[in-house]
Amino acid sequence: MSQTQTITQTQAPNVPQTLVLKNPVQAEEDYRYSHLLPHFSEDRYPPLEPFEHVDPGQRALTHPNPRAFLENATSVVELTPRLGTEVRGINLAELTADARDELALEVARRGLIVFRDQHDFIDRGPDFYKQWGSYFGRLHIHPTSGHPAGYPEVHLVYRDANSTFNFEIAESTTSTFWHSDVSYELQPPGLTTFFLLAQPTTGGDTLFTSQVSTLQKLSPPFVTFLRTLSAVHSGVEQANFSRAGKRGGVVRREPVEHVHPVVRRHPVTGEEALYVNRQFTRRIVGLKKQESENILNFLYDHIDKSGDNQARLKWEPGTVALWDNRITAHSAIVDYGDSKERRHGARITPQAERPIPALEGLKLD
Ligand SMILES: [Fe+2]
Repeated sequence: MSQTQTITQTQAPNVPQTLVLKNPVQAEEDYRYSHLLPHFSEDRYPPLEPFEHVDPGQRALTHPNPRAFLENATSVVELTPRLGTEVRGINLAELTADARDELALEVARRGLIVFRDQHDFIDRGPDFYKQWGSYFGRLHIHPTSGHPAGYPEVHLVYRDANSTFNFEIAESTTSTFWHSDVSYELQPPGLTTFFLLAQPTTGGDTLFTSQVSTLQKLSPPFVTFLRTLSAVHSGVEQANFSRAGKRGGVVRREPVEHVHPVVRRHPVTGEEALYVNRQFTRRIVGLKKQESENILNFLYDHIDKSGDNQARLKWEPGTVALWDNRITAHSAIVDYGDSKERRHGARITPQAERPIPALEGLKLD
């Protein structure tokens, strides 16, 4: 019986001690990133405390050329008109502080920037990842995901022939679940960095969508109404998934729910973006149940269907992607399971400001 089967059979909220595997993926001597395999510590974390976020992108607004960090690139290609840029010829790990500020601003403007050939960045290891991410904000520690031993700030996604430690719903007709990472937090993430340490030969791409464009496709009167709304985002289901024994079976911080504006404003660019997602948004505050469900389902459908707002990232070895979680949504694509190949990724997730309502003075409680 595989490890996955063993874990999945444990559906009780209190997972027996014997099935809480501290390091369920065995280290392999021939795997280059064996030291970064997922580890599920039983540490308990207190609730997150509010903090003041200063966005590095703000500083770049006064730079003579806010795109100067791209000057030495050998290739800069827009993936789609409204979302995503692919860059070659720059070593991310060597960017100066000014260049990192400019990077933050450019990611805020383009939603997603994909840097190829970043083996140096990836091979610098977890202390460097933390140092990198800390520049952009306080590092989020995920309540349920696996992390390299001793590095809870590094959120891992992981699947191989025997195990999966991702949030995957087996009974769904699709693996597409648009979301903005951990949007249930009071101060959800801004600029987010993700890369793969191992990847399947084909498949395992990531979908991205611009929530700025998604909003702009809606009629002005409807947008005016949406600006008056706020919605509850919840981490409860994600925690219950782990409490059922899946994804390593640990919940290290009690799940939270927070109310965010349905339309938020980016603190640096001032752009407005839709901020609801099927994975974590649960209901619109103050509306009746059917009103809330119908509006949210319409918005989720709109996000799902809008290929004209989306980009699909095909990973190459050495790719590092950065996206702004405030103005984009994304989804994994789990189409590689039959190949039994390993997909092992790491995310560095600085938290940002509490979402700013597009409608000034909107009450959030
Ligand atoms: Fe995600």
